[in-house]
Amino acid sequence: SNTVKLAVIPGDGIGPEVVAEALKVLDAVTAGSDVTFEKTEYRLGAGRFLDDGEVLPAAEFEAIKQADAILLGAVGGTPNDPRLANANIERGLLLKLRFELDHYVNLRPTVVYPTVESPLKNPGEVDFVVVREGTEGPYVGNGGSIRVGTPHEVANEVSVNTAYGVERVVRFAFAQASARRRRLTLVHKTNVLVFAGKLWRRVVDEVSADFPEVEVDYLHVDAATIFLVTDPARFDVIVTDNLFGDILTDLAGAISGGIGLAASGNINPDGTFPSMFEPVHGSAPDIAGQQKADPTAAILSVALLLTHLGLTDAAAEVTAAVRQDLAARTDARSTAEIGDSIVSLLS
Ligand code: NAD
Ligand code: IPM
Ligand code: MN
Repeated sequence: SNTVKLAVIPGDGIGPEVVAEALKVLDAVTAGSDVTFEKTEYRLGAGRFLDDGEVLPAAEFEAIKQADAILLGAVGGTPNDPRLANANIERGLLLKLRFELDHYVNLRPTVVYPTVESPLKNPGEVDFVVVREGTEGPYVGNGGSIRVGTPHEVANEVSVNTAYGVERVVRFAFAQASARRRRLTLVHKTNVLVFAGKLWRRVVDEVSADFPEVEVDYLHVDAATIFLVTDPARFDVIVTDNLFGDILTDLAGAISGGIGLAASGNINPDGTFPSMFEPVHGSAPDIAGQQKADPTAAILSVALLLTHLGLTDAAAEVTAAVRQDLAARTDARSTAEIGDSIVSLLS
């Protein structure tokens, strides 16, 4: 038998609520199989910081690095909590994990399930995946301010784009497209961000020579938001930078019928470090502790995790159970009721 070491970071707000359901599903789908998930829970996030001032202690970070994979709920408190003003849980914990574990692919699929009500009247057959770059762009923390607090304050936040970093994520995106509907859309803002834009376009052109079967398209990010609303079925694989990808995937979640359905994988394709799976959404302080959160995104993140580990049959079972549950959804159910229903629908 096979043991998978899974680090679990439930986090804050609805994070622990949705992770509980995701683990129920993981346990049920692997019960009786020859794979055992050995789980270690790490209490990290805003709650932990408020308790003891720790964001990501070195010993815990080292232990997490030794895992085979990571499942994360959501971290972060209420955006306006003054006690968290100087904590920066997002940068010190979430982004630290993504950067240090070299999660250069942030894979965010969107499907409009036929039985789910999308805010779009006529979404069509929507099934695309955003390949969001995960280790560069404006997220790197390359910036600074001077004359802080004065009328002459200057704040810089530099977007870093390297040929190495862009090429590896673009190559991954082409491989995805090649295995899907063979259509890749680069989304950027090359008309304004000319330096990074030139690099992304050049790399896409170059890598495209290795994937002649993939049709390549380009959209400025502002226009991409139009088409995500007016004609989302046109997309197959979108490849884009860290910040554009963040914004587009919340929009994608919304058009799919709710951010509570949107799953993601922060992937280190080389296998040097554990990959991390988490819903696209945050800790949702507005509904935390009320069993109102949709755990589907966390459960579909488990499906991405299983796929990543090569457990494709188990992944397919989870996805199928989610589809069946979505087809049967009627009125409001609690977080746990949705999790239980999906467990009951596993084959
Ligand atoms: P959010 O995603 O937490 O919430 C946005 C809206 O979506 C809220 O109305 C919320 O109730 C709703 N929502 C989110 N998940 C839902 C679910 N599963 N079911 C039903 N409704 C859901 O975004 P925010 O309010 O901007 O951020 C809250 C905190 O979460 C912040 O501290 C932010 O930094 C953090 N955050 C963390 C992650 C992460 O850990 N990966 C991601 C995004 C935001
Ligand atoms: C996400 C979140 C994070 C991001 C934040 C919390 C750092 O919004 O996972 O989409 O911007 O990547
Ligand atoms: Mn986001």
